[in-house]
Amino acid sequence: MRSLVAAIGLLLACFPLLAQLGGLRSLRSVSLPQPTELDKYVRDTKTLAVLGKALFWDVQIGSDGLTACATCHFHAGADHRLQNQLSSPHDSVRQVTVNQVLEEGAFPFRLLSNPADNRSGFLRDNRQVAGSAGIIYRKFQDVTTGTGADLGAEEAGPAAFVMGGLKVRQVTARNTPTVINALFNVVNFWDGRASNVFTGATPFGDSDTTWKALVVRDGALVSEPVRMDNASLASQAVGPPLNEVEMSYEGRTWNKLARKTLSVAPLARQRVAADDSLLGAFANPDGPGLLADSSYASMIRAAFRPEYWESETLDADGYTQMEQNFPLFFGLAIQAYEALLVSDESRFDKFAEGDSTALTAQERTGLQVFNGGSECHECHQGGEFTAASFSNVRNRSRSTTPPGGFGLFRTGVTPVADDLGAAAKDSFGLPLFPAARGNNAQGVFKSPTLRNVELTGPFFHDGSQATLEQVVDFYGRRGDFPGDGNLGPGMNRINMSAADRVALVAFLKALTDDRVRFERAPFDHPELCVPVGHAEADDGGLQPDGTSESTRLSAADKWALIPAVGRSGNSAPLQTFEELLKGVGADGSRAHTMTEVCSPVR
Ligand code: HEC
Ligand code: HEC
Repeated sequence: MRSLVAAIGLLLACFPLLAQLGGLRSLRSVSLPQPTELDKYVRDTKTLAVLGKALFWDVQIGSDGLTACATCHFHAGADHRLQNQLSSPHDSVRQVTVNQVLEEGAFPFRLLSNPADNRSGFLRDNRQVAGSAGIIYRKFQDVTTGTGADLGAEEAGPAAFVMGGLKVRQVTARNTPTVINALFNVVNFWDGRASNVFTGATPFGDSDTTWKALVVRDGALVSEPVRMDNASLASQAVGPPLNEVEMSYEGRTWNKLARKTLSVAPLARQRVAADDSLLGAFANPDGPGLLADSSYASMIRAAFRPEYWESETLDADGYTQMEQNFPLFFGLAIQAYEALLVSDESRFDKFAEGDSTALTAQERTGLQVFNGGSECHECHQGGEFTAASFSNVRNRSRSTTPPGGFGLFRTGVTPVADDLGAAAKDSFGLPLFPAARGNNAQGVFKSPTLRNVELTGPFFHDGSQATLEQVVDFYGRRGDFPGDGNLGPGMNRINMSAADRVALVAFLKALTDDRVRFERAPFDHPELCVPVGHAEADDGGLQPDGTSESTRLSAADKWALIPAVGRSGNSAPLQTFEELLKGVGADGSRAHTMTEVCSPVR
């Protein structure tokens, strides 16, 4: 089907169109990467995606029973929050503190107060990063079956996330990228550490030689290594659940998370639209969650081959086969859901398929700028708008391909010393890119897709730019920290007039798929209550969370409702980050203005 679309597209396309596109193309003409060996584990891919969507949106996966993957990926696949989002909140230079609200005037982060200064005096490194609020620090004690929240010891956490003796939600050290179209990335995360090889329980591929799946062979349980290629999304998905900043109390294990997850009702605290494109058939019509006979165990049994879950034998610690194989199920299910999040119906796609009226004259000028003097196409290529994609990365072996070959580049967003990027080591102490030579992995980050970029601000791995105009100005001055060497291809040749910049931004906004903008299928989703900073007390400090003894050292959360939406989407478009900063759209003309209060069921 997809190759047919491609063929028709080519027939329709005349040579002048191809010349204008300069290698860019419709995403519908790009084939979907296929994980290898899927059949070995999976017997029903439809149920696999249903399971993945439930797990992705279920707040019970977080140790506090209040944090889902979607908590940081609910808005066009990315995050859309303003308060308590800085990962280095105690900044004496800017005098920001914990629980700060991001303000328009703070962007771009690395600009001096007088933007008229010339380049040499223009920038300073204040190491500020707009990340995503995750979980309040606690030490993991145990799970209680049937209950979403884990037991955690209320101990003092990292000093950066404390104010007036109260702990706040910790914030990730990088900005949250979108999960939409992430399946096209050969490697995921800004530094590429989520391997294209999935080994079952960690993001790091072949570095993990210990984890094995348990399989029933000839009536006996045996251990077998897992090694699937083209499966970076599965590698990625098994990272956050045990990460103590994002979703987990310190010290939780997969076995414990499995025991809890298999014992709770899926999405027990969240409403699901009756016409949800995947979950609708299972939605509870009378309240939150799914139909009474739905369970994570029954979905796993339907989706996976029996030899991976049928054994009744318990291991020495009392865990079942299904519990022990849980990270494998979790990774493959989330991957199957995310693989449906493909946005290939933007106006640009229609243009690239031959409809010359789909772009305005200004947007077509922007396309020329993109492919011409601005050199954007050097790193944002093809139908995916990134050099990091399957169709662009030919040699996918880390031992022979340096980061540049995987579509990771240095554009001088931050000084190398602030964030090593691809030069970091993985949790096994091994380099992420063994084939890197000299300093060519230092400060290098994955070139992200530009699709739907209108909706996914703030931008860059440090979230330092609020608007696309600011991003384009960043490129206009050829990066902020070019002095650290090895700038990526094209960076030093970028040359844009003021008019070019306006046209370029218009073009970038033509990369939005309206199904993403209005949350139509496959981008519809269950309800979610997201924490949006902590409640202030009258004296300017924080209010303590008085819900239980185990939260006595924690600050009370504020919450915003992301309503459930079915396949036909919202009537209002998603708010952009710039609009959020300005408070535009709170009159109901935008969705996700973060102004509707909710209180999560505990
Ligand atoms: C607390 C916020 C938070 C939570 C919860 C969270 N993420 Fe993320 N996600 C991030 C951040 C931040 C990054 C980038 C981290 C980096 O690159 O170092 C990221 C990266 C990703 C990426 C890579 C995209 C790309 O282009 O590289 C995917 C896919 C993703 N997350 C999916 C998930 C899934 C699945 C879960 C749940 C199992 C999850 N996230 C939970 C914040 C979060
Ligand atoms: C040398 C390769 C390279 C070139 C040339 C390049 N980019 Fe990028 N682009 C990147 C990388 C790498 C990142 C991520 C950088 C980071 O966060 O540290 C990025 C990030 C972005 C982002 C932010 C996306 C997000 O989700 O945060 C936008 C928008 C963008 N580029 C647009 C452009 C435009 C427009 C041009 C042309 C003026 C351009 N890029 C030229 C490599 C490049």
